[in-house]
Amino acid sequence: MDTEKTLLGLIASPRKFGNSELFVKEVYRGFPKGWQLRLIRLPELDVRPCRACYQCLFGEMKCPQDDDMEILLGELANCDAYLVAAPTYFLGANSTLKRVLDRGLSFYAVMERLWGKPAAGVGIAGIEGLEGQTKLDIDRFIKLTFGDLRETAILYAALPGEIFLAEGGRVAAARLAEAILRDATNAPWRDGLCPICGGDTFRFLPDDRVRCMLCSNTGTFSCSDGTVRMDIREGGHPLFRDLESARRHLEWLRSMKDRFIQSRKELKKVTVQYTRTGTWVRSKKELD
Ligand SMILES: Cc1cc2nc3c(=O)[nH]c(=O)nc-3n(C[C@H](O)[C@H](O)[C@H](O)COP(=O)(O)O)c2cc1C
Repeated sequence: MDTEKTLLGLIASPRKFGNSELFVKEVYRGFPKGWQLRLIRLPELDVRPCRACYQCLFGEMKCPQDDDMEILLGELANCDAYLVAAPTYFLGANSTLKRVLDRGLSFYAVMERLWGKPAAGVGIAGIEGLEGQTKLDIDRFIKLTFGDLRETAILYAALPGEIFLAEGGRVAAARLAEAILRDATNAPWRDGLCPICGGDTFRFLPDDRVRCMLCSNTGTFSCSDGTVRMDIREGGHPLFRDLESARRHLEWLRSMKDRFIQSRKELKKVTVQYTRTGTWVRSKKELD
């Protein structure tokens, strides 16, 4: 008999039995026998801010902080597919997704095991049209955890459970289950997407230029017959295009250490000029 496969559900909502949690469970119901569902409620994890020490890029590639990040990375590395569900909080995904991403230098230690897992996302906002950048936040989370992003859906529901009062919720859940399970790795194509990463959020720059906010590549765009076409070309820093470019980015990050050592004296001359400027407000912990 085949060993059981694992779908990992990452719930970025603190609300128990909230829409994010119910949606993940509904997607799992669309999975065939032989899959188990493991769940992580991200707001309950102790994930501390990155200290920018870069230790996780060298030697045994371990973050010196003893928190829950290792548990999360272990689960991501062991699963066969994952689903990210986040509520919109103030026009973006709940910040626990970003809290994890800020520790993203630690992902490189398990990059080879993370690479290319089928993944999908759902963002749930209480008011139609007020999801802000939630989809971009979830897409970015999946791309930066090296997942094979199949689809991110945006749904609207305010009260816990409301997501399944209308039929659209269950239809979207079935579609995401199918998207994760299908063999093809190419997301369905349509005009208006970034041709490099499939992103659909752009910044318009001077001279008719445009930048994809997911992969950060730049190009031009044109509109004709009611369709928008993005002509975006790859720049010098592909982060998650393929495993080889991710490996190269790791080497580039590592090279920063030598650059820092070489420029240390010069940098010190700059920073020392600012040591006495301003008064730091102290935190409650420092005042106690
Ligand atoms: C602090 C907070 C901020 C919110 N901000 C937004 C918002 O900016 N836009 C929106 O449409 N809904 C907003 N909502 C509503 C939630 O996105 C909505 O209730 C969603 O269903 C919550 O998902 P959950 O049940 O998985 O927690 C907010 C809710 C909270 C608690």
